[in-house]
Amino acid sequence: MNSQKIYILAIESSCDDTAAAVLCNNVVLSNVIAGQKVHAEYGGVVPELASRAHQQNIVPVVHQAILKAGIGKKDLNAIAFTRGPGLMGSLLVGTSFAKSLSLGLNIPLIEVNHMQAHILAHYIKEDGFNMPPFPFLAMTISGGHTQIVRVDSYFDMTVLGETIDDAVGEAFDKSGKIIGLGYPAGPQIDKLAQQGNPKAFKFTKPKVDGLNFSFSGLKTAILYFIQKETKQNPDFIAQHLNDICASIQYTIIQILMDKLKLAVKQTGITHIAIGGGVSANSGIRKALKDGEQKYGWTTYVPKFEYTTDNAAMIGIVGYLKFQEGNFSNQNVMASSRLKI
Ligand code: KG4
Ligand code: ZN
Repeated sequence: MNSQKIYILAIESSCDDTAAAVLCNNVVLSNVIAGQKVHAEYGGVVPELASRAHQQNIVPVVHQAILKAGIGKKDLNAIAFTRGPGLMGSLLVGTSFAKSLSLGLNIPLIEVNHMQAHILAHYIKEDGFNMPPFPFLAMTISGGHTQIVRVDSYFDMTVLGETIDDAVGEAFDKSGKIIGLGYPAGPQIDKLAQQGNPKAFKFTKPKVDGLNFSFSGLKTAILYFIQKETKQNPDFIAQHLNDICASIQYTIIQILMDKLKLAVKQTGITHIAIGGGVSANSGIRKALKDGEQKYGWTTYVPKFEYTTDNAAMIGIVGYLKFQEGNFSNQNVMASSRLKI
């Protein structure tokens, strides 16, 4: 099986990116993404607009992915798609498209769990990137997810902790909105924080037992703090923007690192892989590198384009499942709350 060339077409449509990729075994031949600008003016993803945009994008995105891969539809061995979790309307577009195409081409259909895919993205073959050995801890941090997962093999994963309210990316975005930054605010906070003092303002960390996270209290604390300060000084935000951003980011990183340290302590596992859009954050990357020196961790951050929502990560899961003959039938349905 291993010497054979397996071509997988992968489709991802769980949130606000319509994406398609083609893999030959564990190598990405093409990875196409159509983002959706339509949400920017609302300060967050509007589900109904997302599904409509997916419908417009999916045919050209898939077409481009196949074209860029330099193969023809007839060369495909299977179609992998995101079954969940995600927005129902968005998932339905990708699921229906994948089912129809698999029927039309008469090739197997492979359902993929989006959260597993964020983790297994580390097994895409790329020069200069190492694949984590089992067992390892995966921390998936994005606008939609915050999880720490114990990974014992490709498909043996246990969620050790997750957010009980907002995702970490939402914490960045909602805090940014309070101080007047546009959506998504995460990258802007990251940039401004680099010029600020992370200890200028102190925000209390939430008290959540075990390895679960909570971020909604932080957002409220920031809101009250800003309301109080701007009452006394209407120019407070403008005068202290860098320090505010640095302090918000510092608090969020502390919350993440405290839980990661606890997960390492509880499991004895020191290989740590991160994924999701928030792993682009320079402060988090630095904190992980510090962890390597301080605590003997080995950390893994995938190539940026496989970190945010993308179809290549769906494709690698498709390839791994293909090898096991783990296919889905035409009755498979999208599942917005699909668990690992
Ligand atoms: O993975 P992603 O592209 O989409 C999903 O949410 O699934 O993640 C987007 C999130 C947004 O909340 C955005 O603000 C955040 O990732 N983000 C960042 C940075 N880059 C993206 N947050 C902090 N620092 C960054 N550099
Ligand atoms: Zn995601």
